Amino acid sequence: MKYFIKTMGCQMNVHDSEKIAGVFSESGYDGSEDSKNADVIVLNTCSIREKAEQKFFSELGRLKKVKKHKPHLKIAVAGCIAQQKGKEIFIKYPYVDFIFGPNNIDNLQSWIEASGVERRVSDVKDGQQDMSLRSTPDARRSTAVNDNPEYHTKILPMKRIGRVKAWVSIMYGCNNFCTYCVVPYTRGRERSRPPEDIYNEIQALADQGFTEVTLLGQNVNSYGKTLKGNIDFPDLLKKIHTIEKIRRIRFVTSHPRDFSDNLINTMKELPKVCRHLHLPVQSGSDRVLEAMNRGYTYDEYKNKIDLLKESIPGIAITTDIIAGFPGETEEDFDRTMTALSDVEYDGIFAFKYSRRPGTKALDLPDHINEEIKSGRLSQILKLQESVTFRKNKTLEGESPEILVESKSGTDPDKMTGRTGTNKIVNFCGDNDDIGKIIQVKILKARMHSLDGEKI
Ligand code: 5AD
Ligand code: SF4
Repeated sequence: MKYFIKTMGCQMNVHDSEKIAGVFSESGYDGSEDSKNADVIVLNTCSIREKAEQKFFSELGRLKKVKKHKPHLKIAVAGCIAQQKGKEIFIKYPYVDFIFGPNNIDNLQSWIEASGVERRVSDVKDGQQDMSLRSTPDARRSTAVNDNPEYHTKILPMKRIGRVKAWVSIMYGCNNFCTYCVVPYTRGRERSRPPEDIYNEIQALADQGFTEVTLLGQNVNSYGKTLKGNIDFPDLLKKIHTIEKIRRIRFVTSHPRDFSDNLINTMKELPKVCRHLHLPVQSGSDRVLEAMNRGYTYDEYKNKIDLLKESIPGIAITTDIIAGFPGETEEDFDRTMTALSDVEYDGIFAFKYSRRPGTKALDLPDHINEEIKSGRLSQILKLQESVTFRKNKTLEGESPEILVESKSGTDPDKMTGRTGTNKIVNFCGDNDDIGKIIQVKILKARMHSLDGEKI
């Protein structure tokens, strides 16, 4: 039996798909590269912006026909849309068999067992398929979108992508309630995983040969607040830093309000913590930041950036920006443009504001029309392109270390790796380089990558 997972959305979802694949694998399933060969298709959905949601619904619509021609196919919907709209989907789309939210991946195994698929496997092995053993279609249909307060203490099997770097969840959910954001409604309240579970997971990864870990959470800086013991994020970094074979540690995402001097000092002290920070600013205007409920002013944000750059010279900084938040005036927008020139980010992710169900920003006055949002987004991207390229250019002639990850996706004759500052470097090498930290000379800067050569 084969499963196929289509993942939409952020790193959280990519990592959740590794857990979903792990559960299928433990239940005796093989992964399929092609949905056509699959007996179960999982759509792991994202609802952060409307576009992602539309993409999911058109994919789901397409699967109706597929299932008509292949009645034994099972369809499962996971992720953030499953959590927010699962019950509605269950009623409207009778060909969906299972709906499970991001905090209910531990329920997947029992659905697989209850769905009768396992029994069919053994029956087929006997040379004949005994239809009487199959459960009724309705018995197989179910939803798992409950709060599941102990989810963060569960240890799930994982089938990881790659063998060099690994994602590790350190916390789930979010308590920030930024007024534009759907995440607190889909991933629930913030809960930190016990530090010993995280440590053991990373130790096991090191034993399997992984050399880089990225710690994942919606707001890693508030790690530990929901735990009984006295541990915070810098403490966790120090603990992980002791794992010998792990050579690089990254983390996403940090919230500027909770980004502390203590964390800056800890990053500075710990050489394995990569010289890169993703610190979403969202806007350069205090008025907009307040309407977003971000909990900081632009000056407070900028002071932290200045301290960070001073303490850790050469650190790369990236950010997220929202263009056209409700009520954003030309003046507010100009402040965002000024912030981009001011901070000189190494890279940004910029998005047009998108209305999300259940969020407070929906009810704010003065929503911006699409045309203005698009215009502002293009100006942001254009300005940033020149900054990114200029910054990449300064690296020509330098000789950084990179961790080699895989063959290059763009040029099959080349290998690809990343600097500690998270810049992609393509170079001539071979498969033996994968997993090694090597030194390269940067020959040429491009917009999204660097060309290098081994030295
Ligand atoms: N509209 C546009 N962008 C959004 N983001 C989150 N919610 C929205 C929304 N409703 C962006 C933020 C966040 C990133 C992950 O996605 O910039 O940091
Ligand atoms: Fe990830 Fe956010 Fe999308 Fe959920 S809504 S999958 S947390 S990007």
